[in-house]
Amino acid sequence: VNCDITRKLYIRANGDIPCYDDAGDRTILGQVSTAEDWSIQSVFGNASYGHVRGCLSQGRTPWPDLCKTCAVFRPNENFSDSVASRIIKQLLIEPSLACSLRCPACSQFDQIRHRPKPFRMPPELFRAALRSLRRERYDVREIEYCGQGEPLNQPRLREFVALGREYFPSAPQRLVTNGNFDYERLLGGTAIDEIYVSCDGLYQHSYAQYRVGGDVNRVLQFMADIPKEVDGRRQKVVWKYIVFEFNDSDAELCAAQEKAVDLGVDCLLFVFTQTKYKSTRYTLANAADFPVRAPNVAMNGTPLHYRYSKSFSPLNGTRWPALAKLHWPRGSALRDCVFVLDDFSQLTQTEFTLRGWALAKEPIAQIQFRRNGHCLGIARLGLPRPDVQAAHPAYGDPASGYELKWSEQEAAAGPQTIEAIVTGAGEKVLGRFEKVFS
Ligand SMILES: C[S@@+](CC[C@H](N)C(=O)[O-])C[C@H]1O[C@@H](n2cnc3c(N)ncnc32)[C@H](O)[C@@H]1O
Ligand code: SF4
Repeated sequence: VNCDITRKLYIRANGDIPCYDDAGDRTILGQVSTAEDWSIQSVFGNASYGHVRGCLSQGRTPWPDLCKTCAVFRPNENFSDSVASRIIKQLLIEPSLACSLRCPACSQFDQIRHRPKPFRMPPELFRAALRSLRRERYDVREIEYCGQGEPLNQPRLREFVALGREYFPSAPQRLVTNGNFDYERLLGGTAIDEIYVSCDGLYQHSYAQYRVGGDVNRVLQFMADIPKEVDGRRQKVVWKYIVFEFNDSDAELCAAQEKAVDLGVDCLLFVFTQTKYKSTRYTLANAADFPVRAPNVAMNGTPLHYRYSKSFSPLNGTRWPALAKLHWPRGSALRDCVFVLDDFSQLTQTEFTLRGWALAKEPIAQIQFRRNGHCLGIARLGLPRPDVQAAHPAYGDPASGYELKWSEQEAAAGPQTIEAIVTGAGEKVLGRFEKVFS
């Protein structure tokens, strides 16, 4: 049993630290104060936090009524406690609970009526949290500005970004916004590593059915105005498009992909939701039928979809080369075929995936996967892997990524021997790779 609460820390606009950012957010585990000597240890060491970690470590559910509906609870995962090793994988900050849109499935409207003020986080409160985390030698791996309101309704967001850089200069920072803003006025000149812009539709009549009060042209302009680089720091833009029943026609989905190319965004991420108004034409289960017409298109579910997720671990001593690493020296001679599996996971209760990359001297025509001697399927090839290309430019292949997804009623019992057969033109076998997973 595991939960995001063992690796992430969420601080609300008023300083409350809830049991993360979903159903558990009704339970407050502690509070940040601006007092000079305030310590994060007063939260991580208190009885409520102790209850959560104690239960999870013993395979028990900390808050049975809440956890059963909470999107970040992971009943299939093994317990791990990175906070205990002073690693915070994500520091999630809610700069503002205020928002001027009225998205019908968002809890913002309800929360702003019931939660104690302030609705905009004072930067001094963020500083107090950062100061203590650094003083207590926590390693903050990334900072995200999101929460239950709109981060750009915090007019001082630039100060937050600067504070994050001051205390944890190597932590990448991400902003998640509805984008109904003038980019230059609010953020011009401030580098943010990743900007997710929620824009669910290309046309005003479809967009505004969920993003009530929003203006799609303003959002598209916001994305267009984000420079690729600020002060030599790369900014990545992700257009996040939640697929609802009113924006899921093939015509609109394809036109959005053309627009994404025009705008030069780094990724157009289609998200299949499980809330009210979710698309029934396209879901995570039939994502393979989704009309993909452009590069840099990705698809995802919401955290709730991945509740039953788990990663399968390789058994020691089997014959696959090192996993997940770009594992041979730059510039070395080309090999006939190199195959790397980054991830073998159960995604949802019934969906499984194998993901990684492969390079060969000759073009790869097909990768077939077998499990315990039976065919699992043929992987989708040609997925962009700029990281692999940067490490191994001699192969000249910017799209060495592959992915195989399949469905079955439950995870196979016992060890699973996964075999990959990589073939080139005329079914010539370029390589065979095998590894056993527990
Ligand atoms: C509450 S919003 C706060 C950030 C910002 N106001 C925004 O809308 O992007 C946090 C995240 O929830 C997502 N979201 C909103 N409505 C959703 C829905 N019905 N299903 C899935 N995600 C949703 C947003 O796209 C955003 O990524
Ligand atoms: S824009 Fe974001 S915070 Fe505002 S109502 Fe919509 S989902 Fe909620």
